[in-house]
Amino acid sequence: MVNLANAHIGIVGLGYVGLPLAVEFGKHFPTVGLDINENRIQELLAGTDSTLEVTAEELRQAGQLHYTSRPDELATCNVYIITVPTPVDDYRRPDFRPLIGASTTVGRLLKTGDVAIYESTVYPGATEEVCVPILERESGLKFNRDFFAGYSPERINPGDKEHRVTTIRKVTSGSTPEIADFVDQLYQRVIAAGTHKASSIKVAEAAKVIENTQRDVNIALINELALLFDRLGIDTEEVLLAAGSKWNFLPFRPGLVGGHCIGVDPYYLTHKAQEIGYHPEMILAGRRINDGMGAYVVQRVVKLMNQRRIAVMDANILVLGLTFKENCPDLRNTRVVDIVREFRDYNACVDVYDPWVDSAEAKHEYDIEPVQDPLPGHYDAIILAVAHRQFREMGIERIRQLGKPNSVLFDVKYILPATAVDGRL
Ligand SMILES: NC(=O)c1ccc[n+]([C@@H]2O[C@H](COP(=O)([O-])OP(=O)(O)OC[C@H]3O[C@@H](n4cnc5c(N)ncnc54)[C@H](O)[C@@H]3O)[C@@H](O)[C@H]2O)c1
Repeated sequence: MVNLANAHIGIVGLGYVGLPLAVEFGKHFPTVGLDINENRIQELLAGTDSTLEVTAEELRQAGQLHYTSRPDELATCNVYIITVPTPVDDYRRPDFRPLIGASTTVGRLLKTGDVAIYESTVYPGATEEVCVPILERESGLKFNRDFFAGYSPERINPGDKEHRVTTIRKVTSGSTPEIADFVDQLYQRVIAAGTHKASSIKVAEAAKVIENTQRDVNIALINELALLFDRLGIDTEEVLLAAGSKWNFLPFRPGLVGGHCIGVDPYYLTHKAQEIGYHPEMILAGRRINDGMGAYVVQRVVKLMNQRRIAVMDANILVLGLTFKENCPDLRNTRVVDIVREFRDYNACVDVYDPWVDSAEAKHEYDIEPVQDPLPGHYDAIILAVAHRQFREMGIERIRQLGKPNSVLFDVKYILPATAVDGRL
């Protein structure tokens, strides 16, 4: 039976979540990190992390961590931690293919007494309904007799250097009370902030998915207020600052809601809700509002251009920022693309400038080729879409210099003072 003294960890999926975790486990336990992306393994073997979550020095500190793209190198592991993506498909239904692939891999490796712990964000029930049957099928072993499962959701925030994997309290759970204790103690060894042991895997799954759903709905409310206040002719940030002077008013701001988590995870919950015949209203209303914000920004900019007699067709538009959030290279599910696509529908010429992105990835994922240097004096409208520190450092003068004398400057992220721009959310 696995215990803290003989634990040998296999981490499946070395992305934003898996790598920092593998590094921490690799300081305390023999750990093997597996990824199907050979390029990812090569860069890690060379000592760099292209997600910028882990520094070269931190990679070096994980003395017991090995990287591989070959599942058979995990054969001696007895604890498997699965950290693969959980995206949605084109119809916004959960896409379980990565989890099915990873579970198939782990199932073939499982031995009596092993534990498989899932970290990927899912709906309540998915670990035991979707993943465990694959583990049973592939291993020929019986769940909760021969092997066990756990679920411990990740809460990291890409680009955030303050809230790191070890400094965020971690929810743990297990498929039996004994395994729950083991999973909890295992994470306590690496998580300085401590753990919260949930009463079941389902509770832990639900806790994670509602954290992001709550955030999504809260932002949707503020986005709806921004639409309303624009019609009423009042500045949304001024209202939020005034309301925020009350101790319990939550400090959300309007904006695009993209990324791999907040804009995606609620669909896992609503999918499960609909499966059991409950039609979620608030969660989906929030999703609708947030998904419409890119088109709304373009509508506002087009109106401002019209008021200045600037034709939108063939206009030169500059979008500053493409990533889904500031100060990180993460392009997954960025909603800035809605702004780009909407302007392209108007037959405008759109340049995107983002010092953080990998151009090849932007081209591959979104058919967008970011410009290396925006042309001074060239643009009819400039949209500040992402609050990268480089754009803050540029300041109003250098940003304005990129536009033609009559150009429109729209600030999605409150980077500049209200009086310095022509429009904002
Ligand atoms: N990124 C975040 O901020 C964050 C925060 C909390 C939770 N999560 C959740 O954690 C999970 C992982 O997210 P991520 O951001 O780390 O994803 P990611 O895309 O950065 O990394 C996933 C890695 O898994 C690899 N992979 C996919 N299938 C595999 C397989 N069958 N075998 C081995 N490797 C495989 C991919 O090549 C990739 O490197 C998701 O469920 C996500 O919702 C993410």
